[in-house]
Amino acid sequence: MDTAAPRTGLTPVLSRHWDEPQSWTIDNYREHGGYDGLRAALAMPPDDVIETVKASGLRGRGGAGFSVGTKWSFIPQDDPTTPHYLVVNADESEPGTCKDMPLLLGSPHSLIEGAIIASYAIRAHHAFVYVRGEVVPVLRRLHRAVAEAYDAGLLGSDVLGSGFDLELTVHAGAGAYICGEETALLDSLEGRRGQPRLRPPFPAVAGLYACPTVVNNVESIASVPSVLAHGPDWFRSMGTEKSPGFTLYSLSGHVEKPGQYEAPLGITLRELLDYAGGVRAGHELKFWTPGGSSTPMFTDEHLDVPLDYEGVGAAGSMLGTKALQIFDETTCVVRAVLRWTEFYAHESCGKCTPCREGTYWLVQLLRGLENGTADPGDVDKLLDVTASVVGKSFCALGDGAGSPITSSIRYFRDEYAAHLDHGGCPFDPVRSTLMAGVDSI
Ligand SMILES: Cc1cc2nc3c(=O)[nH]c(=O)nc-3n(C[C@H](O)[C@H](O)[C@H](O)COP(=O)(O)O)c2cc1C
Ligand code: SF4
Repeated sequence: MDTAAPRTGLTPVLSRHWDEPQSWTIDNYREHGGYDGLRAALAMPPDDVIETVKASGLRGRGGAGFSVGTKWSFIPQDDPTTPHYLVVNADESEPGTCKDMPLLLGSPHSLIEGAIIASYAIRAHHAFVYVRGEVVPVLRRLHRAVAEAYDAGLLGSDVLGSGFDLELTVHAGAGAYICGEETALLDSLEGRRGQPRLRPPFPAVAGLYACPTVVNNVESIASVPSVLAHGPDWFRSMGTEKSPGFTLYSLSGHVEKPGQYEAPLGITLRELLDYAGGVRAGHELKFWTPGGSSTPMFTDEHLDVPLDYEGVGAAGSMLGTKALQIFDETTCVVRAVLRWTEFYAHESCGKCTPCREGTYWLVQLLRGLENGTADPGDVDKLLDVTASVVGKSFCALGDGAGSPITSSIRYFRDEYAAHLDHGGCPFDPVRSTLMAGVDSI
């Protein structure tokens, strides 16, 4: 089989049964082969589970795309007295990113099964799921599913008679974007204020309670059971050679049918828009994000970019969380960038000066462009301030804050200039069209 050739079409695996009544129950999950992957894993030595996940090529779905099996293999196994931990990152707070919460609502047992397999593989006896605190319905559903798993002997002592013990704790965060950054998450889970830690040491060496810890995204862990149940070759029959498998693409914004579209890695936005009914009727695509607001934006020139880690990277952005936010021509790009920058300034944890001060000044400059108080040199000043934040901040929040600004100026510098010429935003805030007297930008 040519594993490099992307298989097109939708490939629902995680989302396959979400439309069924009570899809979130253990009975529904088991009817469709749920927990078969766990049985297969428990029949192997833990190291073979790690090798199987490595062979599948599954990459982390939380943003950076690091190999899941390789991350697990970093956990040192030389000291059996030191506890190991699995921490599932369910903080999901990036603007536009909205895949983990639907997954937890539609099929929480895929995460629980994946967490048991991952814990067995890395020899952890306690796993945590750190859930963004505001999503109370998700928390309730996950708590219920964990209780079902305990009742069914899938959690607790002697999981399915295998001799393996595992406790699983669901922890609600307090709603801070920075607590999705894995080391800030660990501090928060330990009861401290959530701020990123200096690395090294990396979590695999000194993570939760200074013990070896794997932190993985919800979708990464929920994808593991299918790899164990069907094998790495099946997984590699989808996607591309370097970005194998299926994934959830979340389409939102000015699109006819927004939602989750599960497809092989390497599909394009043009194909996804066909499934989603296209940009809303009577309008055209202006700009879009490939992976949430922290990833440099694209335009209609990029409709055929393969949406995998390599394709998006080669085109100058990042696949990130595959949160495809679609904006049509009625959207003022400066206003959209201002909204995102306000978010980053609000969520900056304040630990380092470039991000704490820089994001504040970026908001002031963008507000000036929108309300007509900007000076002629302010677009260049925006780029200057961005350059003193990006690459100079303590964690990736600072880098992410710069992406919308630099990419929007790259593609829409004329629109920034129009704000200066017009003495403020040339878009009518009510009708979202160009103001009377402004013919075009
Ligand atoms: C500011 C910030 C917020 C983040 N938020 C999340 C998040 O909500 N969920 C997530 O899985 N990863 C998030 N990440 C990435 C995590 O630090 C980490 O890379 C990820 O959880 C690893 O999982 P993976 O290897 O399965 O992708 C964030 C990173 C940064 C810098
Ligand atoms: S970059 Fe921002 S969020 Fe990250 S440590 Fe510095 S101040 Fe905190």
